[in-house]
Formats: sequence, structure tokens, C-alpha cells
Amino acid sequence: MDYLARLLLILHFYETTVEGRFVDSTVKLTSNMNLECIYPKTANITQMSWVKSIATDKETIAVFHPRYGVYIQDQYKDRVRFINASSKGKSLNFIKTTEADMGFYFCSITFADGIWEKVIQVIPSDSFKVPPVPPANHVITEPGENVTLRCPFRVGGLVQQVTWERIKVDRRDTVVLCNLSEGKTYGSDYQEHAIIDCAPQKSSILVLQNVSAYDSGIYRCHYSLTNGANKTHVMSLTVTSGKLRSDGADGFTSGNSVNC
Ligand SMILES: *[C@@H]1O[C@H](CO)[C@@H](O)[C@H](O)[C@H]1NC(C)=O
Ligand SMILES: *[C@@H]1O[C@H](CO)[C@@H](O)[C@H](O)[C@H]1NC(C)=O
Ligand SMILES: *[C@@H]1O[C@H](CO)[C@@H](O)[C@H](O)[C@H]1NC(C)=O
Ligand SMILES: *[C@@H]1O[C@H](CO)[C@@H](O)[C@H](O)[C@H]1NC(C)=O
Ligand SMILES: *[C@@H]1O[C@H](CO)[C@@H](O)[C@H](O)[C@H]1NC(C)=O
Ligand SMILES: *[C@@H]1O[C@H](CO)[C@@H](O)[C@H](O)[C@H]1NC(C)=O
Repeated sequence: MDYLARLLLILHFYETTVEGRFVDSTVKLTSNMNLECIYPKTANITQMSWVKSIATDKETIAVFHPRYGVYIQDQYKDRVRFINASSKGKSLNFIKTTEADMGFYFCSITFADGIWEKVIQVIPSDSFKVPPVPPANHVITEPGENVTLRCPFRVGGLVQQVTWERIKVDRRDTVVLCNLSEGKTYGSDYQEHAIIDCAPQKSSILVLQNVSAYDSGIYRCHYSLTNGANKTHVMSLTVTSGKLRSDGADGFTSGNSVNC
């Protein structure tokens, strides 16, 4: 048996339960779909795998090993590929998807010091909504800045839980979840990029460090009270590209990005 086949057998027995899992990213099911997994650390990858959870069982879709290369499980071979297996990105592209492709996916990356994991849930496209952004809630900044996003609590009682999400047309990434009794949990893509203080306050303040154009998008803060009531605050963040700025001629972009 070759190395990757043996690895698949081992992976089959390793526990992945979905129950009560923290979901890092929620992706809308589309016929041509990308599940993004970009390793944020600099340590070398020992191996990586994409596993799908099916009821109480799990199924290995793909394995990547720096020396042995890429292995895609037979039933996925014709419609799944790594977008860029040679780089740090270990994202998967699916084509000809069906409803059977909905569910929970685990991108697990093993390196010398441990395991980094990202949990992605694929949901029906009609249950995925992009919220409107109120006109006053636009933040514009430049690459490399640390951006502060504020979510004022418009309630009297004690806020039990706050979730910050970044929303794009086809997916929603969890930035961080603050739970009054359980503490904070950062989304796997934000562990080294976002800072939040979860102590009870009048608002929730999220700092995104060293932003790039990649951070542009809609941000939603969802907070709930101990009595179960929910509220949301939606804003957008635009990180102007350095190119637009140096061109300087585009009235809209440069006019709005001058805040100094
Ligand atoms: C990572 O792998 C490269 C190429 O194999 C090697 O040159 C480098 O020293 C490794 N880095 C670490 C931190 O192990
Ligand atoms: C693949 O990764 C390489 C190296 O990081 C990068 O230069 C290239 O643009 C990537 N290709 C795609 C399609 O993302
Ligand atoms: C962003 O925050 C980090 C850590 O607090 C700091 O070292 C860095 O200088 C800040 N960058 C800018 C552009 O303010
Ligand atoms: C937050 O903590 C409370 C109390 O422990 C718990 O009931 C609730 O399920 C937690 N929420 C999340 C999303 O973990
Ligand atoms: C900020 O991000 C850029 C790439 O987006 C990276 O090249 C640079 O090293 C980062 N700076 C710091 C201080 O982390
Ligand atoms: C608040 O939101 C949670 C999850 O987002 C939901 O389960 C709950 O039913 C909501 N409560 C109310 C009162 O809308």
C-alpha cells in the first residue's frame, strides 16, 4: 500500500464530530464552489487533508503531502481539485456540485508543532443572505493600517454573546465569538489578525491588524442578551488598493480615502 493510501486509512479513524462545533466559515452552495483554506503560519506543512463529515461518519476527500503529492478520493476525482497545492493555499475547487455537497468540511493542516484546523459549512444558496449596509456605516482605509470597527450595543441589559463575521457574496467568515461565560474564540483565519476585548462594555470593539484588500467586505456584529433578544450592527470596510491611491485621479476612491 502506498503512503497516501495508508494515510487515508488512518484519517478514517480519527475523530471529527460536528456536534456543537465552532464553524469558521459558512459557504453558499454554488455549481462551481471554492472552499478556502489558507494556512496562516510560516512553519512547513507535514501533511494536510480535507475531510467531510457525513452524519456520524466522515469521508476523506483529498490529502496533500509535500513529498508524496496530492491524492483525491475516487468519487471526487472528476470534480474536485486543489486550487494551488504548491503554495500555502490548500483551497479546494468543486465543480458540478449537487445538494449532497452540503454539510461540514474540515481542512486540517499538520505541521511540526501541531494541527491547524478550519471548519467550513456549506449551506443551500437560498438560505445565504448578504445584509444591507446602512449608508453611514462605511469605513475606508489603506493597506497596512490597523482598523477599529465599533459595534454599539443599543440595549439596556447585559450582552451575553457577540459574534463578528465578515460577509462576502458567497461566504461568511467568523472573525470572533465572545461569550460572557465562555470567553472568546477567534475564527481560524483571524487568530493572528484580529484583537478583541470581550469584557462587558457598552460596545464591542474589534481591531483588524495590518489589513489588506483581502479584508474588504461587509462586517456584521450580532449580539444577544441574556433574555435571548438579538440585534445586529452591519458596516462595510474598504481597503483601497495602493495603486488606486497613487493614481490619485479617481475622484470617488481618493476623495473618500483621505481621512487624515
Ligand atoms: C521548510 O522547508 C524548506 C524546504 O524543504 C527548508 O529549506 C526550510 O528550512 C524548512 N523550514 C523550516 C522552518 O523547517
Ligand atoms: C499559486 O501559488 C503561487 C505561489 O504562491 C502564486 O504565485 C500563484 O499566483 C498561485 N496561483 C493561483 C491560481 O492562485
Ligand atoms: C498595528 O498594531 C500593532 C500591534 O499593536 C503595532 O505594532 C503596529 O505598529 C500597528 N500598525 C499601525 C500601522 O498602526
Ligand atoms: C455561551 O455560554 C452560555 C453559558 O455557558 C451557553 O449556554 C451558550 O451555549 C454559549 N454559546 C455558545 C455559542 O457557545
Ligand atoms: C502586513 O501584511 C503584509 C501582507 O499583507 C506583509 O507582507 C507584512 O509583513 C505584514 N506586516 C506586519 C507588520 O505583519
Ligand atoms: C437569537 O439568535 C439565535 C441564533 O442566532 C437564535 O437561535 C434565537 O432564536 C434568536 N432569538 C430571538 C429572540 O430572536
